[in-house]
Amino acid sequence: MSFDVPADAYTRFMGRFSEPLAVQFADLAQVRAGQRALDVGCGPGALTAELVRRLGNEAVSAIDPSAPFVQAVRSRLPGVDVWSGPAEHLPFADDTFDVTLAQLVVHFMADPVSGLSEMARVTRPGGVVAASVWDSAGVGGPLDTFWRAVRDLDRDALDESQLSGAREGDLAELFAAAGLKDLEHTSLTVTVAFPSFTDWWEPFTFGVGPAGAYVARLDQVQRDLLRSRCEQLLPPAPFEIAASAWCVLAHP
Ligand SMILES: C[S@@+](CC[C@H](N)C(=O)[O-])C[C@H]1O[C@@H](n2cnc3c(N)ncnc32)[C@H](O)[C@@H]1O
Repeated sequence: MSFDVPADAYTRFMGRFSEPLAVQFADLAQVRAGQRALDVGCGPGALTAELVRRLGNEAVSAIDPSAPFVQAVRSRLPGVDVWSGPAEHLPFADDTFDVTLAQLVVHFMADPVSGLSEMARVTRPGGVVAASVWDSAGVGGPLDTFWRAVRDLDRDALDESQLSGAREGDLAELFAAAGLKDLEHTSLTVTVAFPSFTDWWEPFTFGVGPAGAYVARLDQVQRDLLRSRCEQLLPPAPFEIAASAWCVLAHP
C-alpha cells in the first residue's frame, strides 16, 4: 500500500500540511483536558501529538494499518496506546472514548461507512466523532498543482478527486449512511510556505500516497517532464500553498 513508507517520508510529504491542520481540527472538535481520545488512521502521529499536548499520553489511543507508522508513533509518543489495524475493525469496547477523530483518512478506508460506524460505536453518547478529508475534487487540495500537471501530460491518469469524501457534501453523506445525526460541516484551511521548488517537488519522489505511487511508476523521462510541468504551473519560489479540508462533526 502507498502508506507502507518510512514515517519521515510521510512527514516531509504530507506532514507539513497535516501538522497545522491537526491544531485546527482539534480546536473544531473542542478537545480539552479530562477527555479520552482516539486518533483513527494516525499515520506517524501529526494529530496524535496534538491530542497528547492537550490531554496527556495516558488519555490518548491511536490506530493505523501501516506498520512503519505504528512503530513511529510508539517511539515518538511513549505511553500512548498505539494499535495496528483498520478503522473498519476497531479493537475497543463500545463507548470507550469522549472524542474519536480521523484526520485525512476516510477517503483511504476500504469501507468508509463501516469505518465511521465503528468510530461511532467506540464513542460514548454525547461525545464527538469527527473526520476531515482534503478538498481534492475542487481547487482546494494540497496536491492540486501536481494533479493538474499530471492531467496535462496524461489525460487518463486517475487523480484523488474520485476518493470518498473528496467532493463537497460527500463526507456528510458518509456520516449519515453510518447512522450519525445532527451533523455540523465546515472546512478548514492551512497555508504552508515552500522556500524552493525542490522543497516542494522532492517529497513527491518518496512514494507516499496516490501521488507518490504515481511518480514511482514513471520512467526518468516522464518524471522529468512532470517535474517541469509542475514548475511551470507553480509561482516562482518562495511561494505558499493553501490547502482546505472538508470537516464533519457529529455527536453519537
Ligand atoms: C493521509 S494519511 C493521514 C495520517 C494522519 N492522520 C495525518 O493527518 O497525518 C492516511 C492514513 O490512513 C491510513 N489508513 C489507510 N487505510 C485505513 C483504514 N482502513 N483505516 C484506518 N486508517 C487507514 C494510512 O495508513 C495513513 O496513515
